[in-house]
Amino acid sequence: MVQEIDLDKIDINAEPPTEEPARQYYFMAKCRQYVREEGERLGRPLSAAVVNFGCQMNARDSEKLNGILDTVGYELTNSEEADFVIYNTCTVRENANNKVYGRLGYLNTCKKNNPHMKIALCGCMMQEPDVVEKLRTSYRFIDLIFGTHNIYKFAELLVAAFEQQGMVIDIWEDTQKIVEDLPVERKFSFKSGVNIMFGCNNFCSYCIVPYVRGRERSRDPKDIIREIEKLAADGVVEIMLLGQNVNSYGKNLDKPMTFAELLKEIEKIEGIERIRFMTSHPKDLSHELIEVMANSKKICRHLHLPLQSGSTQVLEKMNRRYTKEQYLSLVENIREAMPDIALTTDIIVGFPGETEEDFEETMDVVRKVGYDSAFTFIYSRRTGTPAAAMDNQVPEDVVKARFDRLLKEVQTTAARKAEQLTGQTQPILVEEINRQDASLVSGRLSNNSVVHIPGDASMIGKLVDVTLTECKGFYYYGKPVLHE
Ligand code: SAH
Ligand code: SF4
Ligand code: F3S
Repeated sequence: MVQEIDLDKIDINAEPPTEEPARQYYFMAKCRQYVREEGERLGRPLSAAVVNFGCQMNARDSEKLNGILDTVGYELTNSEEADFVIYNTCTVRENANNKVYGRLGYLNTCKKNNPHMKIALCGCMMQEPDVVEKLRTSYRFIDLIFGTHNIYKFAELLVAAFEQQGMVIDIWEDTQKIVEDLPVERKFSFKSGVNIMFGCNNFCSYCIVPYVRGRERSRDPKDIIREIEKLAADGVVEIMLLGQNVNSYGKNLDKPMTFAELLKEIEKIEGIERIRFMTSHPKDLSHELIEVMANSKKICRHLHLPLQSGSTQVLEKMNRRYTKEQYLSLVENIREAMPDIALTTDIIVGFPGETEEDFEETMDVVRKVGYDSAFTFIYSRRTGTPAAAMDNQVPEDVVKARFDRLLKEVQTTAARKAEQLTGQTQPILVEEINRQDASLVSGRLSNNSVVHIPGDASMIGKLVDVTLTECKGFYYYGKPVLHE
């Protein structure tokens, strides 16, 4: 949140304050000086681009980086030919890392053409010591490397990068700290992510996130509510509450609070029309939450409920702490309370030791649940996780064949589900001008499906009732309903 802290009133020749966020505002004031001086030397304003490689949590972190960059005087751009490029990385699967290494070669060329260019890397991949070592030795053109726990210190680190020769590296192993009230530059004016917790304590055996994001920490509900109230005052109508496992929100607060209780408080905030959240771990999804969702006018009719595998045996090895039957009965309870809810999921194919029978169990759950959409992933071995050391890694060709079968099943079910809504009238939140056809605008239903309707930029950020005229598999064409 941008507090009214006037950088001009900060004495940058004094010692930096020790408390946060005042310390960071001091460094922002200092940084602004450097950015100004360099801009004057070049005879033009400096530009900066944050490139996001990861999940919604990373995207929200990028908005925080952009908030600081904007405050210190950079012009924000999407071009990687900017004066300052920051890669906010992900490491959940191997290909996320490969993407970053691939793109770094290109950045090196950019820097050769533009020697005063600065390059920073941050995010989850930087929490892996091997990665940082490789970058330190073989990618000497990088100016700044920091991790997930100290992202709030970006201004301070940037000042160090201006003042020091060579690479600045600052990585913390973990933190208990949550720094509030730093600037944020949102990508969308009408919707926003809101962190409600950081880190993860679940240690699913395939997953690297707990190692790179640290232990679970919930934000104080007062800070969350205050942030959302400010967002609403600023024109935001839809919020997405973010956490790796939102269902365990509040357990470690001084005054414990459940996620359902938090939702009830958020529901009261005037101006907020839609509430979304992710991600929900099935093992922690309570009856209380189902009830709050069913009675809510604002919580969207969409639940992302990662399955990972339909085989109880595999689920146990994954340390997911639910069985196939428990998952299916949870889905039944949810559907009973909210028959119109859209269910989406994540599934991993080829976990070590996955047999044909195990895979068939996954297919069985997919058929029984009938997901509205599903993200399917090929298992990726992450060094340091328990699964990486397991025997019976499944051969690539077997995994690929299963993956294709699963994808086909998921797509067929999703198309069938989508078709059922054709002809209905429902509100969409208009998000943008259609990228292919400028006479259309695109928005989302409560259930998260995309709808394209005739319209113009004046509709962006508005809720519009539309009739779904044509289903195209996983999206719709529609027309606005004209009210008297
Ligand atoms: N906290 C969320 C998941 C975050 S990671 C949850 O528990 O649902 C997003 C998805 O990436 C996971 O749901 C999982 O399906 C997938 N994933 C995580 N680690 C993976 C790995 N090693 N290989 C393949 N997919 C993985
Ligand atoms: Fe990873 Fe499991 Fe935590 Fe999700 S809940 S982030 S899959 S360890
Ligand atoms: Fe998200 Fe990737 Fe990190 S999925 S939490 S950016 S490892």
